[in-house]
Amino acid sequence: MTVRLRPDPTLVKVALGARAYDIVIGRGLLASLGARIRALRPGAKAAIVTDETVARHHLAAAEAALAGGGVASSRVIVPAGEGSKSFRGFEQVCEAIIAARIERGDLVIALGGGVIGDLAGFAASAVRRGLDYVQVPTTLLAQVDSSVGGKTAINSAHGKNLVGAFHQPILVIADTALLDTLPEREFRAGYAEVAKYGLLGDAAFFAWLEANWRDVFAGGKSASSAREHAIGVSCRAKAAIVARDERETGERALLNLGHTFGHALEAACGFSDRLLHGEAVAAGIALAFAFSARQGLMPAAEAQRAIRHLADVGLPTRLKDIPGQLPPADRLMDLIAQDKKVRRGTLTFILARGIGTAFIANSVEAADVRAFLNEKLAER
Ligand SMILES: NC(=O)c1ccc[n+]([C@@H]2O[C@H](COP(=O)([O-])OP(=O)(O)OC[C@H]3O[C@@H](n4cnc5c(N)ncnc54)[C@H](O)[C@@H]3O)[C@@H](O)[C@H]2O)c1
Ligand SMILES: [Zn+2]
Repeated sequence: MTVRLRPDPTLVKVALGARAYDIVIGRGLLASLGARIRALRPGAKAAIVTDETVARHHLAAAEAALAGGGVASSRVIVPAGEGSKSFRGFEQVCEAIIAARIERGDLVIALGGGVIGDLAGFAASAVRRGLDYVQVPTTLLAQVDSSVGGKTAINSAHGKNLVGAFHQPILVIADTALLDTLPEREFRAGYAEVAKYGLLGDAAFFAWLEANWRDVFAGGKSASSAREHAIGVSCRAKAAIVARDERETGERALLNLGHTFGHALEAACGFSDRLLHGEAVAAGIALAFAFSARQGLMPAAEAQRAIRHLADVGLPTRLKDIPGQLPPADRLMDLIAQDKKVRRGTLTFILARGIGTAFIANSVEAADVRAFLNEKLAER
């Protein structure tokens, strides 16, 4: 069977020497999965790791694409949701991959959102001391963020993503048509990470998003719509940072913009549906920009512009946008201190001097942050 590739998928190269790989972005790309894998790893068989929801929508098409390319596959299906990123989920996926007789030279395919990417990627890093894997991200968040860069992890009782590995995929296939089945709320949450790239380092992209976000949300049947453009720019931004700082010894930390506040809010909400990761990131970015303005790093109007865009698309930007109770500032500070971006008692935050100019602030006074949070909590 010959697989017709779409005329113009976007190609982003992640330049990591021996671990370099391509991110291919476009509508309808899933059909080419088998052909692309066979070209990369002739004769390899694959275990597709996915969750129950994604399986319902897209597993049959993925299996057909593999079969069409002559790639034998088996399936490993876990429950949808963050709960699968656990030691138990990890054990189950590892055992299932081994039971499927996936060996060195074979492949794991992560078909799903960030949960599946993190879980399958970590399992691939560990089974037989490391198997190659392919990311087929199915959420916007996964297409622009978690499928790129090789961070994989599960959660510990002590916190999120505390047990994991750096393990780069050998290919990322971002089929934007897969997003057609994604609930709007999930799409919107993923958009927070898209806006993040503009806010942290690309003011022109941010301005483009302000003008075109409705088209990004609407998607479109053409292969070169606003949605593909936004995903392409986001992947290129992340790929460039990852290529320069694969293990986060420096610059890669910029990608944590909004995440220190965001993780604390996520934890305060028990990592539940009350606040999705991307929603927490949006609120966290809004707090980081407001705090940056408060510290005199940028004019208040500049911070307001950043926050307004996130609010316009319907993301939470104020603590009062988060439903239910929030703990007092002291408890939020504890949660912030547990975050991994803390070194020797000083708080490390990603702050900004304006839209597109984020930087790593290494010694932020905890007292300033606490006072700021107290004030924001009082607005609820
Ligand atoms: N490794 C990294 O660099 C990195 C970066 C950011 C986030 N993450 C992790 O990613 C996770 C969040 O990822 P997520 O937001 O993609 O969550 P997710 O994987 O849980 O997906 C969200 C929900 O959407 C469903 N879904 C996925 N694709 C779908 C589709 N095409 N159609 C219909 N439903 C679909 C899923 O079943 C799930 O219920 C977190 O665990 C976070 O820690 C990792
Ligand atoms: Zn994130």
